[in-house]
Amino acid sequence: MAKIKTIGVLTSGGDAPGMNAALRAITRSAIYSGFNVKAIYRGYRGLITNEIVEFKTQNVSNIVQQGGTILKTARCKEFTTPEGRQQAYEVMRKQEIDALVVIGGDGSLSGARQFASEFDVPIVGLPGTIDNDLYGTDHTIGYDTALNTIMWCVDRIRDTATSHERLFIIEVMGRNAGFLALNGAIASGAEAAIIPEISTEVDQLKELIQSGFRKSKNSSIVLVAESPVTGGAMGIAERVRTEYPDMDARVTILGHLQRGGSPTAQDRILASRMGAAAIDALLEGQRNVMIGDSNDEIVYVPFSKAVRKDKQVDRSLLEILRRLSV
Ligand code: F6P
Repeated sequence: MAKIKTIGVLTSGGDAPGMNAALRAITRSAIYSGFNVKAIYRGYRGLITNEIVEFKTQNVSNIVQQGGTILKTARCKEFTTPEGRQQAYEVMRKQEIDALVVIGGDGSLSGARQFASEFDVPIVGLPGTIDNDLYGTDHTIGYDTALNTIMWCVDRIRDTATSHERLFIIEVMGRNAGFLALNGAIASGAEAAIIPEISTEVDQLKELIQSGFRKSKNSSIVLVAESPVTGGAMGIAERVRTEYPDMDARVTILGHLQRGGSPTAQDRILASRMGAAAIDALLEGQRNVMIGDSNDEIVYVPFSKAVRKDKQVDRSLLEILRRLSV
């Protein structure tokens, strides 16, 4: 394997709080270990269009606390084509970038996996997504901040829900995963979470209503994971209107505000540890692995495993929700 002199770094897909802390850790650990760093703007798009700048330690000053990504990000269609990836490889050669660190979610790491299978490029991934849906890591960068944001929002909705004695159906992000909905519901004291993972097994709304969840309370809060499988908050609200017309229900879709904000201490620490670990991984000759955090230890997860889409939610939390909403 050719000796690595210059490492390229990019953020890709949906931004997540902590991506900047990860970029800082990657840049500084790389410089500390004697590598050059080239920052690639706008994800894979910038790799194709050559939007690349050499980064020194000062380029990542004062960003550990910032949400979003100073590198910008994109969901890049061209990179899904062989021509796009060929062009990206040519730009890498021209820029003399020997290895890549990709910070992103499922789609970004799937892109990295494909690229690595076609070209001889060592790539290390960092799980950067609020969805927490990457296999092999207990937590992804941005998840904890998003969870705290959800909790903050639901606390406020609770004030009006209680005053009006209403049912609030609150939609949270997660793409096709229920981590944010389930843990957000526990953290905010919601009555229930409706998640895609069990949507085909049980009618979660019917079960909730039949449990008589409103017998001891006049207001209630239900978190619904966005997903065609759950029907989202609008789908659930429509069902409530037609099947249980005596309930006074309101809908709130939290949307992209869940992606913003300054990262929590937990996300900053996770991003810093993972960023440093990405450079260690390259020094050890690792390639095509995602850095994971398993039982508080850094692990290397092959891309093929990380993106396999079957990370399980902790179903015992559903039982806890049931018990706590009596
Ligand atoms: O993957 C992160 C995420 O925020 C998902 O939770 C959500 O489904 C999606 O991105 C939204 O993507 P976009 O910002 O492109 O609309």
